[in-house]
Amino acid sequence: MKTIFCQLKLETAPGRVFTPQPATERLVDAALERIDGVPMRIADVGTGSGAIAVALAVNKPNVEIWATDTNADAVELARSNAERLGVSDRVHVLRGNLLDPLPEPVDLVVANLPYLPESKHDSAYDDEPDDAVYAPGDGLGPYRRLLDACREGKLETGGAILLQYRGEPMAADCWQLEDLRAELENAA
Ligand SMILES: C[S@@+](CC[C@H](N)C(=O)[O-])C[C@H]1O[C@@H](n2cnc3c(N)ncnc32)[C@H](O)[C@@H]1O
Repeated sequence: MKTIFCQLKLETAPGRVFTPQPATERLVDAALERIDGVPMRIADVGTGSGAIAVALAVNKPNVEIWATDTNADAVELARSNAERLGVSDRVHVLRGNLLDPLPEPVDLVVANLPYLPESKHDSAYDDEPDDAVYAPGDGLGPYRRLLDACREGKLETGGAILLQYRGEPMAADCWQLEDLRAELENAA
C-alpha cells in the first residue's frame, strides 16, 4: 500500500506500522521553519514509516537525521522509504527506545509518539498497531521519558523539541523543557 505525505509517495504497512496522518504534516512544517541553512542534526523519535524523517531530509539537504523506532517492521519500512526517495545517506534508521540509539546529541528532536491512554480506546485507530497509539496510565509516559532524555544530554544546548499531541505541534527550546512538561500534564 502507498500513501501521500508532504507530497511524497510513501510505502505503508497497514496493521504492522502506523500509517502517517495528514495532521503530522503540520509537525513537519513546524520543523522546517526551525531549519535554516546551517548543517543540523535531527532525531525523529518513533519514526514509523519514516514519514517525518524522509520529508525533512527531502526538503532540507543540510540535515542529517537519526530515526528511531522499537518496532522492527517500522525500522525496515522507514529504511526502504528513505532508500526509495534517495535520502538514505542522511536518514539513519535505528531500532531502539526513544533517543537511546543516537550516537551523539542532536539539535532538534521531533516526535509523534503514542500518547492516548490505554483506557481510552479510539476506534479511529483500530487498524493501527496498539503500541503505536496507546500508552499505559495517562498515556504521557513516552513523552515524559523523551523530555528526560533531552534534559540528560541527548539534546544540544540551544536545541529544541517538537512534539505532536492531539494533532497539534507543541514546541520548546532546551531551557523550556520543564514548561513543556507542565503544558503536557495540564492538557492531559
Ligand atoms: C503514532 S506512531 C507515529 C509514526 C510516525 N512518526 C508518524 O507520524 O507517522 C508512534 C510510533 O512510535 C513508536 N514507538 C513507540 N514507543 C517507542 C519508543 N519507546 N521508542 C521509539 N519508538 C517508539 C511506535 O512503534 C510507532 O511507530
